[in-house]
Amino acid sequence: MSKLSIKDLDLRGKRVFIRVDFNVPLKDGTIGDDTRIRAALPTIAYALDRGATVVLASHLGRPKGKPVPQLSLRPVANRLSELLGRPVTFVDDSIGDAVKRAVDRAHASGGGVVLLENLRFHPEEEKNDPAFAKALASLADLYVDDAFGAAHRAHASVDAITRDVPHAAAGLLMEQELRYLGHALEAPERPFAAILGGAKVSDKIEVIDNLLGKVDRLLVGGAMAYTFLKSRGVPIGRSLVEDDKIKAAGKIEADAAARHVQFGLPVDHVVADRVDAGSAHEVLAIGDARIGDRFGVDIGPATIQAYEAAINDARTVVWNGPMGVFEIEAFAAGTNAVARAVAAVQGTTIVGGGDSISAVKKAGVADRITHISTGGGASLEFLGGRTLPGVAALTER
Ligand code: 3PG
Repeated sequence: MSKLSIKDLDLRGKRVFIRVDFNVPLKDGTIGDDTRIRAALPTIAYALDRGATVVLASHLGRPKGKPVPQLSLRPVANRLSELLGRPVTFVDDSIGDAVKRAVDRAHASGGGVVLLENLRFHPEEEKNDPAFAKALASLADLYVDDAFGAAHRAHASVDAITRDVPHAAAGLLMEQELRYLGHALEAPERPFAAILGGAKVSDKIEVIDNLLGKVDRLLVGGAMAYTFLKSRGVPIGRSLVEDDKIKAAGKIEADAAARHVQFGLPVDHVVADRVDAGSAHEVLAIGDARIGDRFGVDIGPATIQAYEAAINDARTVVWNGPMGVFEIEAFAAGTNAVARAVAAVQGTTIVGGGDSISAVKKAGVADRITHISTGGGASLEFLGGRTLPGVAALTER
């Protein structure tokens, strides 16, 4: 990698500020999924093993620049402490004298871990405010960014802070994310297949545009397929459509053809009277007018077969977005089949986006995926070819 890495730093006896993404699902103080905390452990352990004092900072949710008790990182400190098997000092602010003193105390006692309170309790964080960034930078000697999930945000702890520290090094998670996602875009083994699903085409237009120049196969599922199908003039009932994206969808299909990319759209689907668990449903071919005013809720068996065949012999696969309303068991077959097909690939497989990640976990195949990205928006923007502020701000090696 061309960016400076934590492995390039001399950490012994230093206070190292590590920007992490501990933006985890939290309900009534209970963490729903600790994947992002676990994903940061290698970097934290690496710094501790080398005798550094670790100062961790993250955002959690969107508190809009003021303290919101429900979005405190305190429960995360407890979970982190369990996972690390050592105490974690939690401080209830992210800047100021009390925070400085807590860091100094940890440092004086020979190292340890300090977790700062939610950065977004200060409005300056999201404003990329230089004074706030300076106050954060003053807490430590070295800066490491391991928050790939927040790399698409030009916020003070990600961007402005890098102007107040000697250098900005990538943490191990950041490195891993950039290695896998970067490799897929720059030098993928072929065939390279991308599978995109989810509700909205508008979320993925940039990704599709960028990937069309790179992939051999692009398979579309989920509600976003209906905008493409509508652009073909096919009856789609009351399935979710973005009318203002129909033209763009048509252009994407034409581009795919011009670039000789195999463009997969469903050939059959599950249609339901209502989008709920008890609804009557049946499989119809795409184009079958008997859909009436019903909803398309999953890809059908013929589509599953075609997509499995397109995934099966690929050597690089990127998957983001479910194939249907997979939260409802009756409409989850397509998403589950794709999860299993991706897991069976002999090659590099990358899964991103909360729903696809839950799907591979639910299918019990998460450990067979080469790389599960911790970035939702960040991985999509990266795949869309954007330079992420948090990556641009890292020091070149
Ligand atoms: C995410 O969950 O995608 C990141 O933590 C960024 O969060 P945000 O969308 O609130 O900036």
